[in-house]
Amino acid sequence: MSDIKKIKDEFLLKLKENLDSNQVNQIKTDLFGKNGVISSKFKQLGKVAEQERKKFASDLNSVKDELQNLITSKINDIETKEINQKLEKEKIDITLPERPFVQGKIHPVSQVIDEISSIFSEIGFSVKEGPDIENEYNNFTALNTPDNHPARDMHDTFYLDEKKELLLRTHTSPVQIRTMLNDKPPFKIIAPGRTYRSDSDQTHTPMFHQVEGLHIDKDINMGHLKGCLNYFIKEFFEVDKIKMRFRPSHFPFTEPSAEVDIGYEIKDGKIVIGEGDKWLEILGCGMVHPNVLKNVKVNPDKFQGYAFGIGIDRLAMLKYGINDLRAFFDCDYRWLNHFGFDPIDVPTNYRGLSR
Ligand code: DAH
Repeated sequence: MSDIKKIKDEFLLKLKENLDSNQVNQIKTDLFGKNGVISSKFKQLGKVAEQERKKFASDLNSVKDELQNLITSKINDIETKEINQKLEKEKIDITLPERPFVQGKIHPVSQVIDEISSIFSEIGFSVKEGPDIENEYNNFTALNTPDNHPARDMHDTFYLDEKKELLLRTHTSPVQIRTMLNDKPPFKIIAPGRTYRSDSDQTHTPMFHQVEGLHIDKDINMGHLKGCLNYFIKEFFEVDKIKMRFRPSHFPFTEPSAEVDIGYEIKDGKIVIGEGDKWLEILGCGMVHPNVLKNVKVNPDKFQGYAFGIGIDRLAMLKYGINDLRAFFDCDYRWLNHFGFDPIDVPTNYRGLSR
């Protein structure tokens, strides 16, 4: 039996077995690879005696064709089999009902933070953030809060260590300190975020939200503060006219200090802002105390300005008629579906702040 015939028989036998695609490919390499059996035979062609060369070449070519065709059809068969198996396994049952489509809602607090940021950015405020875990210095001392101030008391402040050096910030005012320590005046920022106090009833939760405002420049006075807050309240409640009053108050970090009330009345069981003879306190504010400026290395003889702190949750309750603060943080989807906002409706002053 000739060599070529032997090769043919041997490989025909191999290819008859039940092979997977890796095994077929291996056979292909064994035959036609660089050092494959058939390839080597072709290399011998020159050494074959001249009178036999023609026959040798033609036999070799026909064995090569035969084996090649067989391999190709084997590979085709294997691929078809694999596809069919896959199709069998991955059958789609189009009679099944579709999955329900659930669209999330924006929480009223997030919505109100977006609204507030949008309103203040219209008049040149940028938005800053600070961490929930603060140090005692930023939260109290730098803000000119004396050592014996009641706010430092354990009952109000969640301290995180024995030495009372770390705490959950009790207000957003430490962002004033962080901003002024990190930058040079002028400053014109708001800082919304979470705040914490040991307090819990229908109108107080241990975690709540505030937005801080700070505007420091060479000649900022209380008139600017009034104008700014007047603009903000009108924009926020989307009314043309408001009643606003400044009541003298005390904060360690401002002098003079004031609390701001807005006028409202109840009509058909709903709160109407800007009319009536009832007053509602919504924020604290004042001219930044020179000691605070000194603490952050800003010269109080050159720079001055105002600051304010607003309770965000209270604003959200008022604007959207929600009467129990605790529901804000219960994580009840039914509540969120009712009071939440469409994610597509990002508030802007131009497109409308609320639905
Ligand atoms: N930090 C005060 C609070 O939590 C609110 C406040 C009052 C902030 C007056 C201010 C301010 O910036 O000037 O009660």
